[in-house]
Amino acid sequence: MDLSDINLLDLDRYAEGPPLDWFAYLRAHAPVYRHPDQTERGFWALTKFDDIAKAAKTPTVFSSSYLRGGTIVLGHSGIDTMMGTAPRVMSNMDAPEHLKYRRLSTRAFTNKALDALVPAYRRAAAALIDNAMKRESVDFVTDIAAKLPVQAIGEMLGIPEEDRHLLGKWTDALTGSEDPELSRSPEEVAEANTALFTYGQQLRERRAEEPGDDLLSALIAAEVDDEGLTEEELGGFFALLVIAGAETSRNVLSHGLIGLLEDPDQYGMLHEDPSLAKDATEEILRWSPAVIYLGRHVTQDIEFGGQQMKEGDRVALFFASGNRDEDKFADADRFDIHRRPREHLAFGSGPHACLGAHLARIEIRVFYEELAQRASKVRITDKPSYLRSNLAGGVKHLPVALTPA
Ligand code: HEM
Repeated sequence: MDLSDINLLDLDRYAEGPPLDWFAYLRAHAPVYRHPDQTERGFWALTKFDDIAKAAKTPTVFSSSYLRGGTIVLGHSGIDTMMGTAPRVMSNMDAPEHLKYRRLSTRAFTNKALDALVPAYRRAAAALIDNAMKRESVDFVTDIAAKLPVQAIGEMLGIPEEDRHLLGKWTDALTGSEDPELSRSPEEVAEANTALFTYGQQLRERRAEEPGDDLLSALIAAEVDDEGLTEEELGGFFALLVIAGAETSRNVLSHGLIGLLEDPDQYGMLHEDPSLAKDATEEILRWSPAVIYLGRHVTQDIEFGGQQMKEGDRVALFFASGNRDEDKFADADRFDIHRRPREHLAFGSGPHACLGAHLARIEIRVFYEELAQRASKVRITDKPSYLRSNLAGGVKHLPVALTPA
């Protein structure tokens, strides 16, 4: 292989699974790589753990701001570029604007409030697993993994149970905007986007009149320096939470199962001792290439990793590659339930590190505790299929057979 074989914009390659061999090559030969594209400047691809973490922790140089183009820097017709401009949501903001959101949300997003969601989520996970075991074979993604995060987010945001399936439909169309199986036309993507935003606004109106014991009501009430969120800000925030929370968790659950079953002994150990799910959660997060990259724009000319970057350059932080960096993790491609990685980049790093990390960890841990207790064996019965996207490392289908314990 050489650099000319690598095209991180070739979406068909991602449909065969995350291009881990390309990432390994780049880490070894061109860790800060000016990747060509249709523009004169191309974009910078960062693939080493330390470079990615450094850029993510230096927001004054590596900006997330919507004013400079936001974080979806490689063009993705679903989430950002469809609107022509990056939406004004917290993931696309720099300080001090970003801080206002972060403070408001941490007030509403407390660990205590999220821990209270565990019993309902556990029941939902157990019911899905038990139903799956009644059938000879199921699609782990569509029958189980896709259904759980919308339950968790629905519970958290106070979305009525009968509406929750709609969230998955809309986020599928948005993150799958480049995949013909999930999104048939740009109009369909636009409709999903509008539907999600409008749903958020309607729910906001209902909660403003009748506050409940949920995150949306808390966000409506929350204020920093006597300032709350405007209607438009809340609508955008609602859409961000649903998009950021639904697809990522489902993909981590699915990649995690693939990892656990690569060596059947790993699942066996978890079945023997379901309390291992807590540590396994960190390894599942590290190993799962669920968020392939997020981007930044350079705010000033700077030398980085021996390369000269210019103001306005686009930089893609390939989190999925940093998590497989052999200088950081021994035998990095191997899923090892006992690894206990102390740090990884699954949730990014720096001021934009994932707001939903505590919730995501609960979702993964509780699901795998339930699976380990209920199924003595899990077998993948056919090849997984992957999403045609270089942004979301999605698993679309994963046929499995579960044996009851
Ligand atoms: C395992 C599942 C998840 C993964 C792998 C994940 C990954 C990430 C990553 C990599 C970032 C960093 C973005 C950047 O640096 O530009 C991020 C930010 C974010 N995530 Fe997550 N996420 C997950 C679950 C969730 C959930 C469940 C929610 C909420 C319900 C959520 C909400 C957010 C928000 C709001 C941000 C933006 C934070 C900010 O800009 O300050 N995520 N996530």
